[in-house]
Amino acid sequence: MASPGDLRDWIALLEREGELQRITTEVDPDLEITEINDRVVKSGGPALLFENPKSRHPLLINQFGTERRMCLAFGVEKLDDVAAKLEDVLEMTPPQGVVEKVRGLRKLKSIADSLPKTVRSGACQEVVLTGEEVDLDALPIQRCWPGDPAPFITLPAVITKDPRNGVRNVGMYRMQKVDRNTTYMHWQIHKDGRADWLATEGRIPVAVALGTDPVTTYSASAPLPKHIDEFMLAGFLRGEPVELVKCKTNELEVPANAEIVLEGYIDKDEPQGLEGPFGDHTGYYTAREPFPVFHVSAVTMRRDAIYPSIVVGKPPQEDAWLGKATERIFLPAIRMTVPEIVDYDLPVSGAFHNCCIVSIKKAFPGHARKVMHAIWGLGMLSLTKSIVVVDEWVNVHDYEEVFFTVGANVDPKRDVELSEGPLDHLDHAPTQQFMGGKIGIDATHKGPLEGTREWPPMIEMSHEVKELVDRRWAEYGLDSAAAANGDGARKLRGLLRR
Ligand SMILES: Cc1cc2nc3c(=O)[nH]c(=O)nc-3n(C[C@H](O)[C@H](O)[C@H](O)COP(=O)(O)O)c2cc1C
Repeated sequence: MASPGDLRDWIALLEREGELQRITTEVDPDLEITEINDRVVKSGGPALLFENPKSRHPLLINQFGTERRMCLAFGVEKLDDVAAKLEDVLEMTPPQGVVEKVRGLRKLKSIADSLPKTVRSGACQEVVLTGEEVDLDALPIQRCWPGDPAPFITLPAVITKDPRNGVRNVGMYRMQKVDRNTTYMHWQIHKDGRADWLATEGRIPVAVALGTDPVTTYSASAPLPKHIDEFMLAGFLRGEPVELVKCKTNELEVPANAEIVLEGYIDKDEPQGLEGPFGDHTGYYTAREPFPVFHVSAVTMRRDAIYPSIVVGKPPQEDAWLGKATERIFLPAIRMTVPEIVDYDLPVSGAFHNCCIVSIKKAFPGHARKVMHAIWGLGMLSLTKSIVVVDEWVNVHDYEEVFFTVGANVDPKRDVELSEGPLDHLDHAPTQQFMGGKIGIDATHKGPLEGTREWPPMIEMSHEVKELVDRRWAEYGLDSAAAANGDGARKLRGLLRR
């Protein structure tokens, strides 16, 4: 399965797969679409293409709203398959023998082929609007929540370059519409787009791609190290390079396949505007704060361009699956630095920054604490507020099992690590913005060197008896196959919850 070449291929694929619904009746991007979409997202429903959102341009939303759609976007069966592709390259060792050398060369070629390619023309420039023709009011930009003061562009790929070395950055930062040709740019303090802006004297050129193929859109949200171009990740994950065209009014390049492009600049010498409040993925409104002003010098687009949107809010929302994709895709890279990590889970309800459950191959006293501190030092994971560390046999994705493990294995006086450090820009809980407390819970089995009494063995039925019961299952006249294959605990928990 290949990943779709552009947004229209993607919409066609979603439609063939029964994953898209068209809505022809007129709807209002002011709050109404949020409420419709919220009900559909929470029932696991399809992507929605609003063909008449009080605008000439249709609006696509909920394209990433389920695990199945996220997998379709990447052309894989499960998100771990995307991670495996990355792991294959990250774990390359010097090849032995001819077969391995050929395989190694193929892998290197797949990296070389990931580099974005500049082309002479692109569909995203079929229509070019400059000067007085620029009019953001023509787009069906959503006002998402009642407390939002204006409409916000919510699914953009914002492109900048580091003025010191020319390295491109692509980030997903919401943009509050100010008037027909200006928006604010909500790049938070830990983000690379903001770092490019801070390093620039005067005007920094900015381009915003809206409605690219789904993997390129995802890549804008991926927490890559600053020196790695997100379009290269997109090319690698898609298996073909992202094609770029030069902007009409600045020197940046944008995906040729985008539906809509906003070109312009941000002037560092211009006073910032008061952005927000905004109904955010924390489940609360984030406060008004100064953010830079983006001036749109040109809008280029396809004929009949489709406008993409997403709504964030109290989890779960559509962005849950963008976050889960990142969780899975980055596991191999995390393991490169902290190899004792077996798996990790960022619960959607924890808005991704609030909680991380991690399982480790424990090898020495204090190992869980080593891993906590490693996570607090790793890229965007450094913003994690609470970490639970469990042993390798605990399924980090089974929250009941994790809850049991914490309850059974933790002495709060001995096993809780309180620390402090940087926190998510949007976190309203700490006394001071950006900085605050961290908690780590060591729920691993402890050894005597960690100050415990003898640790008791866990209860498990013997192999022989399990095999006996497997063999004899039919004789008992019990027909539930699940009860015979060890899925019983999960089923029982389900029954207890009713
Ligand atoms: C739907 C969605 C909206 C987002 N909005 C913002 C935002 O407004 N500001 C921000 O700094 N990060 C936002 N993020 C997170 C960034 O996109 C993410 O941290 C990304 O890695 C930033 O790119 P960078 O590392 O190149 O700065 C959003 C993510 C998603 C999925």
